[in-house]
Amino acid sequence: MCGISGIIGLQNISNPLVASIRNLEYRGYDSCGVAVLNGRGKITVKKNIGSVDEVNEGEKLTKSKGFVGIAHTRWATHGRVTKANTHPHLSCHKEFACVHNGIISNYRALKNLLAKKGHKFLSETDTEVIAHLLEDFYNTTGNVEKTFLKTLNKLEGTFAIAMITTFDSDRLYCAKKESPLILGIGDDANYIGSDSNAFIDFTKNSIVLDDFEYAIVSKDSYVVKNFNQGNIIEKEITRIHWDAEMSQKGGYPHYMLKEIYEQPQAIINALNIDQKHIKKAASRILKSEKNYLLGVGTTYYVALLGEYVFSSMAQSFVPAISSDEFKHLGEISKKAHVVALSQSGETYDTLNALKYAKNKGACSTAIVNVIGSSISRLVDQTIQQGSGPEICVLSTKAAFAQMIILNRVALEMGVIKKIISPAKKNIIEKGLKELPKYVSQVLNEKSGFVHTIAKRYSHIKNWLYLGRGLYYPIALESALKMKEVAYIHAEGMPAGFLKHGTIAMIDSDHYALVFVPPKEDRELYELTMGGVEEIKARNGFVLGFHFEPKDSKSGLFNEDIVLPKVEKHVAPFLQLILAQLLSYFTATTLKRNVDRPRSLAKSVTVA
Ligand code: AGP
Repeated sequence: MCGISGIIGLQNISNPLVASIRNLEYRGYDSCGVAVLNGRGKITVKKNIGSVDEVNEGEKLTKSKGFVGIAHTRWATHGRVTKANTHPHLSCHKEFACVHNGIISNYRALKNLLAKKGHKFLSETDTEVIAHLLEDFYNTTGNVEKTFLKTLNKLEGTFAIAMITTFDSDRLYCAKKESPLILGIGDDANYIGSDSNAFIDFTKNSIVLDDFEYAIVSKDSYVVKNFNQGNIIEKEITRIHWDAEMSQKGGYPHYMLKEIYEQPQAIINALNIDQKHIKKAASRILKSEKNYLLGVGTTYYVALLGEYVFSSMAQSFVPAISSDEFKHLGEISKKAHVVALSQSGETYDTLNALKYAKNKGACSTAIVNVIGSSISRLVDQTIQQGSGPEICVLSTKAAFAQMIILNRVALEMGVIKKIISPAKKNIIEKGLKELPKYVSQVLNEKSGFVHTIAKRYSHIKNWLYLGRGLYYPIALESALKMKEVAYIHAEGMPAGFLKHGTIAMIDSDHYALVFVPPKEDRELYELTMGGVEEIKARNGFVLGFHFEPKDSKSGLFNEDIVLPKVEKHVAPFLQLILAQLLSYFTATTLKRNVDRPRSLAKSVTVA
């Protein structure tokens, strides 16, 4: 996910252009740049790695002069985070500059073809082929619109593209296929952007482009056409009703809620990771004498979930260790292998544990969200989770995606070990594939109810979060969410552990959230319900997240939320969604600083 922007106007556009990508920074922030067409018909590109403000300070982005320009803020997918890979990209003779969001799936073939024709590539990106393709077609057509059309029809994959050229200095060109693109219609300038943040400070009139549409925009007019049929399309202007701050969050009041709602897409992205990366990790685990799963905070709980999934699907015991404790526990040799989990890829404790393992000769794999991060550069294999930027300090969608990836690795291990039959594999894969749909359903249908419960119980100071088996790491992660965002104590515990001490605390003032498995998971279900009975027998309060409509009438729950029936391996994930929402709504009720809770930081780079 990247942010693209373009402006054409009556005044010098470099200041608003830089402001526009600053407003898009949440879409990607590893590097950024601008291309401006100056009065002498030359394109000046300024770009570098870093945030918009850092790059502006170093490269003086706002000092460019011109009436038309494009800009980009990058979340690296193809090619590392380097200056050369930063957008905008230029054609060989610097007559075409373009920015892009999406993935050009046939870029290798196009690159080879263009290279044979003498085009020189300066970056590792898929985007650069667009600039060269434009130049190549212009050599034969001599017409910018025809060139743009021919280029669009050659590209496969997904894209939102914005382009400027010295051959038509009064117009901006843009197109969309599957990646978002919006026009902003102003009084003395027109705009394009990945979303309305790009121009919301300047105009609230927008036109949403649909797939296969391209637009040619000048300072006082625009035309939208279809690039398959070439016909003109009449588009409706929509008035935007939110302010810049809110729209950065896509209309959500907080990034946390936005990111919770982005989870169906994060799951899809995790499921789309090439199977070869999953296979490589699975066989490495199976070949290694000793394996460890590492993470800290939320990622430790993700690792713990991995421990359970590896045991249940592949009968392989891979202990999860909190990265900060790794040196005191891990038995590391050349035959060991560590699998580290990190959203940021910069967490000191995990990085340090990995360095320690590497120094002892162990091999390593990491599941990381941030491309080019220190952890991804250190390990032997990185699985790039592709969850998109996670801005809220609390990890939600990134952790969820990591859980999905660990499920895929475990499944592959089970298949390699012939523990999982082809029929069982199909069932598990179907469950994973259908999960985004059920997550959306739960978000749409249950969040109102969770909100009501959160408001009703936001005064409770202590919660016990109980689960067994796979539901135990989910209980732990859910409890951490409550602690970090609402500052309310929630203690995650295996439900079976309760009677070995903690039960002494249970009375009518004690509140428990119980993660009940579906009935098909008979043994786990019965044991968990046994725990519910134990609490009820002592007049404790039970909030149940469960799957059995009939249990709602059992009298065992003071409050409950019934979830849709899903394949048993993915059932706990639906409960995690409810728990995230419960933490979020409790925090908003208590007026907490949701996206930046006190004392926390997004990436903890200190010991
Ligand atoms: C998550 O909600 C927390 N803020 C925190 O526990 C986090 O998961 C932990 O610091 C690990 O971060 P990482 O994934 O960036 O390595």
